[in-house]
Amino acid sequence: MWPARLTKLLRIDYPILASPMAGASTPALAAAVSNAGGLGALGTARHSVDEFNQAVDDVRRHSNRSFNVNFFCHREPKPDPTRERRLRELLDPYYDELGISQPDAITAAAPFGPAMLAAVVAAHPAVVSFHFGLPSAGAIAKLKEAGIIVIGSATTVAEAEALEKGGVDAIVAQGVEAGGHRGTFLGSPTENGRIGTMALVPQVVDAVRVPVIAAGGIADGRGVAAALALGAVGAQIGTAFIPTPESGAHAIVKASVMAARDDATRVTNAFTGRPARAIGNRFLAEMAALEAGLPDFPLPLALTQPLGAAAIQRGSTDFSTMYAGQAAALARGLPAAELFARLIEETEAVWAGLSRAGRRARPQARKPARRRARKSAKKPRVKARSRRTPRRR
Ligand SMILES: Cc1cc2nc3c(=O)[nH]c(=O)nc-3n(C[C@H](O)[C@H](O)[C@H](O)COP(=O)(O)O)c2cc1C
Repeated sequence: MWPARLTKLLRIDYPILASPMAGASTPALAAAVSNAGGLGALGTARHSVDEFNQAVDDVRRHSNRSFNVNFFCHREPKPDPTRERRLRELLDPYYDELGISQPDAITAAAPFGPAMLAAVVAAHPAVVSFHFGLPSAGAIAKLKEAGIIVIGSATTVAEAEALEKGGVDAIVAQGVEAGGHRGTFLGSPTENGRIGTMALVPQVVDAVRVPVIAAGGIADGRGVAAALALGAVGAQIGTAFIPTPESGAHAIVKASVMAARDDATRVTNAFTGRPARAIGNRFLAEMAALEAGLPDFPLPLALTQPLGAAAIQRGSTDFSTMYAGQAAALARGLPAAELFARLIEETEAVWAGLSRAGRRARPQARKPARRRARKSAKKPRVKARSRRTPRRR
């Protein structure tokens, strides 16, 4: 039942990928998922080259399987003193409340660049994935020359087509249910790319030839089976791994994910200047009407992160960044390998149940189908809208 296209490409046993999650995907989590037969991932987008090399070494100490490293390809932010001043004024009362001072200068982690490219080529992970578009054509060529599989993230069909043109080996179709940043890179990230996984995945599958991986709101075998039914050849799962003991999320954040209900999350710009889905808290509620006109991504993070860190030290989630998707309530808090094994078992059980139901339904379905065929025999045939021939999965 498992499609072989992705497992062959990535040299893994099951087409289930852990999401790269900056701040939550530790080497221990990546190794556990890879050792269980999936594709583990490191959230290395904000790492320095040294931190990246250390994280890769740490995974390799525990696993010799394929894993994914991940980077952001946003535009370099332009400092804007007016916007920065406005944000500082908005945040002043919160800093006062927590009794801490604002940092003097704000800096941001750089997008994927030449130094990191050289480090990735030297480290030679099996897979590198990008969020917010792709690096230069030259960088993609170097990664591919080195035999590294390249994955990009799309939130619309147009983005999927652009990624395919850009030379990716596979595409993550990220539905709006997903936790963390929207990967949107064409049009306005605040207005475009808000399509649900159920609608997005089959449309991306129809539009591109490279393998498609569904992401967003998948947290159990029902979700994985649904992703495969939609034409994806794999599923990428993030939020469900946040409460695992191996994840790097703070204990309070893990508890918030475990306590989340279906409507706990919302998409916000407030933390970084780009839309991301997170569990709602006081900060998000109070910033909701003030999110326009923030400094460029990811500059606001330098001012919002200290608030979250200070609050969490006091045991409060009022200001913390709790990225999570709409399926947070389905998370189980199991060790990663156990969760992974459950995902496999559940997907196979759902698939077997659907196959049995299909076999039972077939004899009854045949008669009306024949009757319909006779009735319509005299009608002129309407030509079906042309579609590409279905691809091998
Ligand atoms: C805590 C968290 C952090 C994330 N960080 C990243 C990241 O650093 N890079 C990235 O490409 N995607 C990131 N994502 C988005 C995931 O790649 C993926 O789209 C998402 O986890 C899928 O939806 P789900 O969380 O509902 O499973 C993050 C998601 C979460 C929940």
